Amino acid sequence: MRKAAVLALALAAPGLVAASGSLQAQSLYHLGRAATSAEIAAWDIDISPDGAGLPPGHGSVAEGKAIYALKCAACHGDHGQGKPMDALAGGLGTVFDAKSVRTVGSFWPYATTLYDYIRRAMPFPEPQSLSDSEVYAVSAYVLNLSGIVPDTAVLDAASLAKIVMPNRDRFVHDAKIDIGQPQPGAVPAVR
Ligand code: HEC
Repeated sequence: MRKAAVLALALAAPGLVAASGSLQAQSLYHLGRAATSAEIAAWDIDISPDGAGLPPGHGSVAEGKAIYALKCAACHGDHGQGKPMDALAGGLGTVFDAKSVRTVGSFWPYATTLYDYIRRAMPFPEPQSLSDSEVYAVSAYVLNLSGIVPDTAVLDAASLAKIVMPNRDRFVHDAKIDIGQPQPGAVPAVR
């Protein structure tokens, strides 16, 4: 009722709703509606490099191994060696070679990004079908494949955020004024 009254007012005096994008779009184009907070929450799942945004839950390498065999190995290989799709493990120490092998293990700077990526995008045919704890488990297994965490590891928000990835310090800031100057002495990971 109240919304209808606001819309009627908006139609009568469009200048009054200039600050309200969604109302304006509705009244001008008769398209769409404002997203609900539940819809926004479902999209708002990004995780920062420092781990901000990681959900509760935990998972072990052993649990991850079982999930991986069922839901990942067909595309990424039994041990993350790749084929038919990207390799997830291996290539450690090759980042500066002419034929570098860039995998999660050899190249990615943050383990937290691995969690974010798997949770939002994998398994490829069924994205966002894993529970938060299953994502911790399969992340632990993928990291274990590169020897970054031991066979006994159990990951949660705190322990995942503490992992230091092998290639972490080889990235440099892009010399754009909005994100800061290159760090002196840093070696670029990408030539
Ligand atoms: C049907 C095939 C398929 C399955 C199953 C699958 N993936 Fe993937 N995966 C892909 C493809 C294709 C890409 C590359 C996507 C792109 O670049 O946009 C990818 C990319 C990735 C990457 C990023 C690799 C990189 O270095 O860029 C990770 C990590 C990953 N998958 C993890 C998983 C995990 C964990 C599972 C199981 C839960 C899984 N995938 C299941 C096809 C698959």
